[in-house]
Amino acid sequence: MRSSLSEPIDFEVIWSSLPEPAMILDKKNQFLALNSAAELFLFSSQASLVGKPLKTFTGDSSRLIDVIEQSRKNGSWLAEYGVELSWRDRPTSMVDLQAAPIHERPGEMLLLIHPRSIAEKMDRTLVHRGAARSVIGMAAMLAHEIKNPLAGISGAAQLLEMSADENDRELTTLIREEAARVEAILEQVDQFGDVRPPARSPVNIHDILDQAKRSAAAGYASHVRFKEEYDPSLPMTVGDGTQLMQVIQNLLKNAAEAAPKAGGVISLSTAYRTGVKISIGGGKRESLPLHVTITDNGPGVPEDLKPNIFDPFVTSKSKGTGLGLALVSKVIADHGGVVECESEPGKTSFRLLLPQWKEPKTPLLERLTRKSREATS
Ligand SMILES: Nc1ncnc2c1ncn2[C@@H]1O[C@H](COP(=O)(O)OP(=O)(O)OP(=O)(O)O)[C@@H](O)[C@H]1O
Ligand SMILES: [Mg+2]
Repeated sequence: MRSSLSEPIDFEVIWSSLPEPAMILDKKNQFLALNSAAELFLFSSQASLVGKPLKTFTGDSSRLIDVIEQSRKNGSWLAEYGVELSWRDRPTSMVDLQAAPIHERPGEMLLLIHPRSIAEKMDRTLVHRGAARSVIGMAAMLAHEIKNPLAGISGAAQLLEMSADENDRELTTLIREEAARVEAILEQVDQFGDVRPPARSPVNIHDILDQAKRSAAAGYASHVRFKEEYDPSLPMTVGDGTQLMQVIQNLLKNAAEAAPKAGGVISLSTAYRTGVKISIGGGKRESLPLHVTITDNGPGVPEDLKPNIFDPFVTSKSKGTGLGLALVSKVIADHGGVVECESEPGKTSFRLLLPQWKEPKTPLLERLTRKSREATS
């Protein structure tokens, strides 16, 4: 058999066919090379850009330059989500950035820009957050109002069932089952209505994964094999354990529903990766070093749903509510994190990027009293 690498790879061809903007900068951050997607993104040709300094387009105080400089200084790869990129004559856009030093060519940097990623989606989410709040509030109120009459309906169906004959019993059972389904939807809508910020306690992600896995394996995921690849030194994350448990359960349920009946595998992995940051407003950035990935070997997310899977009521399942991933995205956003999805037939991964727990600083007064107590004892 002929090895697929026996023919030399023309990296120029790969470079120019990369779908996302990529560029190489020299030591002074002047353009050395740009791929076709970067030319399109910047509305300029490579010929007109080569040799020109990046800062003539971005200005001196661009976050883009900061990221490149930091990555160059650290000598390692750096990613930053949700960066506002202003580019001479162009409206400001939100992008994800990745910068990496090219070690074989000292001082030179590879820069990747992702304009159509979660960053844009989060931007949209922020814009609509006000509107979403009122819709969510309304839905939660309605859910509350519907619950009482619904309980009446299923109670009445139960009473009827006692005196019903065989044929009618089929109908009363249907009423009860459907009422239970509406109730389950209302429960989920209720969770959206909870706009309080999540608790900020230290949370051990491995405990949550273990517990969720055990309850999944005993129920809806009894047909799948679990594989675990945990980073044992993973620090705590910060947030609300119950809400994060719900997130993992929703992801596991989707993975189990997608995994094949025979040979279904779900992999759970955790890792600590520095270098991913997110803008949290007010010029502040938060690091998201805890990465939790849930992967299944199912057929993948249907292509037509891909752009909207995190929106409420988007579902391909006859009995699905389409609220599972919407809740995942809300809870993770409330925790200051990011959720990403990568899917192809045979391999679908949902990855959570979460912040690390930091000990709160002890207030000055408490520190002083402790010191004086220590001094007198
Ligand atoms: N692991 C996965 N593999 C393939 N498709 C998925 C996966 N996870 C989610 N999807 C797709 O995204 C859609 C939305 O998922 P979501 O969890 O929000 O709702 P649902 O699973 O359809 O309903 P519910 O969560 O109420 O049971 C699913 O219907 C499915 O098409
Ligand atoms: Mg689901």
